[in-house]
Amino acid sequence: MTDRPAEKPAAEKPPADKPPAEKPARYPGRAPDELAASRLVGSAGHRRPMPCPRSRILGTGGYAPERVLTNQELERLVDTTDEWITTRTGIKRRHIAADGETSSDMAAAAARQALAAAGLTAADLDLIIVGTISPDHPVPGCAVHLQRKLGAHDIPAFDIAAACAGFIYGLNIADQFVATGAARCVLVVGVELLSAKLNWEDRTTCVLFGDGAGAAILGPADWRLQPSGREGPPAAVDQPAGILSSMIFTDGSQTGALQIPAGGSADPPTLEALKEGRLKVHMHGKDVFRTAVRNLVASSAQTLKAAGLTTKNLDWIVAHQANLRIIKGVATRLRYPLEKFVINIDRFGNTSSASIPIALDEAVRDGRIQPGHTVLMCALGAGISWGAAVVRM
Ligand code: UT7
Repeated sequence: MTDRPAEKPAAEKPPADKPPAEKPARYPGRAPDELAASRLVGSAGHRRPMPCPRSRILGTGGYAPERVLTNQELERLVDTTDEWITTRTGIKRRHIAADGETSSDMAAAAARQALAAAGLTAADLDLIIVGTISPDHPVPGCAVHLQRKLGAHDIPAFDIAAACAGFIYGLNIADQFVATGAARCVLVVGVELLSAKLNWEDRTTCVLFGDGAGAAILGPADWRLQPSGREGPPAAVDQPAGILSSMIFTDGSQTGALQIPAGGSADPPTLEALKEGRLKVHMHGKDVFRTAVRNLVASSAQTLKAAGLTTKNLDWIVAHQANLRIIKGVATRLRYPLEKFVINIDRFGNTSSASIPIALDEAVRDGRIQPGHTVLMCALGAGISWGAAVVRM
């Protein structure tokens, strides 16, 4: 099923005294710069001339640990104030995992919700992709533990360490698995247990992050499920739901801007590294802030163009919840009203790869995001890695 326009007949030969007409566009109705945008390096699989979804979101889920840590409690831990955290970030509280609770536990809770929302079970999954930088163990990946906890059969399950952009990377990859037919039903999760990766004496980072998980089930765009979860006949709809475009990017020249310096092969997890705090999150906040606004705006604009849309076609934007001032900066530069951004940073803080799927799931469950709505998602984090996706729900 496609809404690709029919090819125009070849242009007539111009009279000899007139300059030759411009070469007819290969894809009528699209400006050359739009086509260029859809051919960007690093955005494989996005050469579609018009919105022509290949996969769609069948269900979403979210999970946040019970324990809530308020700014007032942080005032007693480090030299900070509720006023500073609120005005500089928009965060009022965040969730912190319980002792013994793991990333895969949280991922499983979100995944079960998403499967239920899709009317599916773990037996229906063909692939599990988990965006996380805080897996249960360095090896094997979080997705492996998640597969076991869900009771999914022998399907591939792997992690992506794209930090806060992990969920967008996951959507992009899942879309291509569905497009090639290599998978029909893909679970994409963003999960972080960053409270274990923070230096709780460093006020420049420990006030920012929180724990949680979000999930989405993707299946073929023309796959219609009956309430039983069984496949029904493809529905003939004018505006097919699905991922209309998605783009992912990395700039490896800024690896030091946001990182956990030790614990890998370059700086092994020694006692010295532990004592010096190099096994915890380090960030040059101001540098990341500037890059975030610039790159989120640019990738959002490019991804919209690749879908043949503008912000006028959008019902909602779900941007990464890193800082309310970043979201406001993106809103101003995209000239899109702040009221149409899904915002929950005040209650969750920055949950890295989990932030977009948690916000998406909240807005789906409370009815803000409705079937047929067009939603732009965009995220940026360590790497620097970033990306955006335009999805019709
Ligand atoms: O999700 C991954 C991507 N991450 C991001 O996108 C985060 C991007 N960066 C930011 O959101 C902001 O840069 C921060 C929220 C991290 C910091 O805000 P800022 O307005 O850039 O503050 P700053 O780092 O320039 O610090 C300003 C002042 C400094 O004091 P002096 O040097 O002016 O005396 C800091 O020491 O605020 C001080 N400060 C604090 N004060 C009270 C830093 N952290 C705190 C704190 N409480 N928690």
